[in-house]
Amino acid sequence: MPTVDNPTEKTLAELGVNDAQGVAEKFAEVRTRFDRQVAFDADEIRSLMLHEAWLGSDSDPVTSLRNFWVGRKAGVLTLITENWLKKSPPSLKGVVGKQFNELKTHIETKLEEQRKRIEEKTEAAALNREQVDLSLPGVIRPVGSHHLIRQVFQEIEDIFFSIGFSIVEGPEIETPYYNFEALNIPEFHPVRDDMDTFYLELPKGAKTPLLLRTHTSPMQIRTMEKQKPPVRVIVPGKVYRRDNPDATHSFAFHQIEGLAVDTDITFCDFTGTIEYFVKQFFGPSVKTRFRPSYFPFTEPSVEFDVSCPFCGGTGTAAAGGTCTKCKGAAWIELFGAGMVDPAVYGFVNYDAKKVSGFAFGIGIDRLAMLKYGIDDIQVFFQNDVRFLRQFP
Ligand code: DAH
Repeated sequence: MPTVDNPTEKTLAELGVNDAQGVAEKFAEVRTRFDRQVAFDADEIRSLMLHEAWLGSDSDPVTSLRNFWVGRKAGVLTLITENWLKKSPPSLKGVVGKQFNELKTHIETKLEEQRKRIEEKTEAAALNREQVDLSLPGVIRPVGSHHLIRQVFQEIEDIFFSIGFSIVEGPEIETPYYNFEALNIPEFHPVRDDMDTFYLELPKGAKTPLLLRTHTSPMQIRTMEKQKPPVRVIVPGKVYRRDNPDATHSFAFHQIEGLAVDTDITFCDFTGTIEYFVKQFFGPSVKTRFRPSYFPFTEPSVEFDVSCPFCGGTGTAAAGGTCTKCKGAAWIELFGAGMVDPAVYGFVNYDAKKVSGFAFGIGIDRLAMLKYGIDDIQVFFQNDVRFLRQFP
C-alpha cells in the first residue's frame, strides 16, 4: 500500500531545516496537506485512507482524519511538539513555537468547520430520504382471490339463488344416523362400501360413533327435521371418503346437495330445474338427458348427463379427431339425482302421501375440472400459487 512520508515523524535537523525560512516552508507544507484533506467529505476521506495508509483504521473516516491531526498520542500536532518544537535548536524555538500555534489554531478551526459541514450534509440527506413524494403511485399490495373451487361454488349458488333456493350448511362430522340410516341406508347395505369413510376415535362409552360425512346428503335430513315444507335448499360443503389420491380421487372433495320438497312437486319440475341449472352453467346450447340409476334415498333415481359442451355433442373435436373431453361419447356424466324416496320422509315426520320432492348431489371438483379443463383433482388441494393465479 502506498504510504506518504510523514515529515513530522522526523526532527527538523533530520529534515535539513536550519533556519526560519526552512521552518516556515515545512509548516506551509503540512498546512497545505491538511487543507487538502479537511476539504474532503467523508467518502473522499475513506478513499484517501485506502491510498495513504497513515490515516489509520477507524471505521469512521472523519474520526480517522481527526486522530491523524490532533490525536493526543500520535497526532501531527503532538508529533510536531515532540519532534520539531522540543528538539529544535534554541535559536529556532521562537519561530517554531509561533508557527506551531498558528497551525494548531488553523487545524482546530478547520476541523470544527468540517464537523459542522458533514453534520449538516448528513441531516439534509436524511431529510431528503424521508421526504414523501405524493405524486408517486402507491404501493400495490397483491390481493388474493377465491380458490377455483370457491368460485365454482359461487357460480352454482348464484344459479340456484335465482330460482328461489337458499343455502344451508351442516357439520362435517356426522353420526351414522344422518349419514346413512335416515337416508334409507341401513347397516350392511352394500352402498356403504362405496362410502367407506373416516371414523373418529371416541372415548369408550360414547353414545354413537362419529364419522366424517361421506356426502352432503345428511343435510337433507337435518333440514327437513327443522323445517316443514316447502323446502328449497342447496348445501355446499366438504365431504370425505377413504379413497387413495390419484388424478380423479381425493379423500376430501366438495359437493352441493340440492333438495326441494313441497306438496305438488313433479318429475317435470325436477328435470326442468336441473336442465335450467345445466344450461346456466355450461351455456344455453347444451342438452341434458337422464339415465336410470340407483340411490337408496331417491326413487326413481337418475344420473344426469350433459351433451358435451366442448364438441357441441358430436363426439368429434373441432380440429378433427375424437373429442378428448367426452372421449367421443358426445355426452358427459354429470351427477346423481332423483325424486326423494318416500321412506326418507318417514325419518323426518313428513307425510309421504302429501309431499313430494327431488334431490341432487353435484360433485364440485369434477364439474370444475370439466369446465376449466383441469386433468388432476390434486391441484385443488396443493395450493400451488402458479395454479391458483390462473383463476383470478
Ligand atoms: N349423495 C350421493 C353421493 O354422494 C349423491 C346424490 C345422488 C345426492 C342422488 C342426491 C341424490 O341428493 O338425489 O354419491
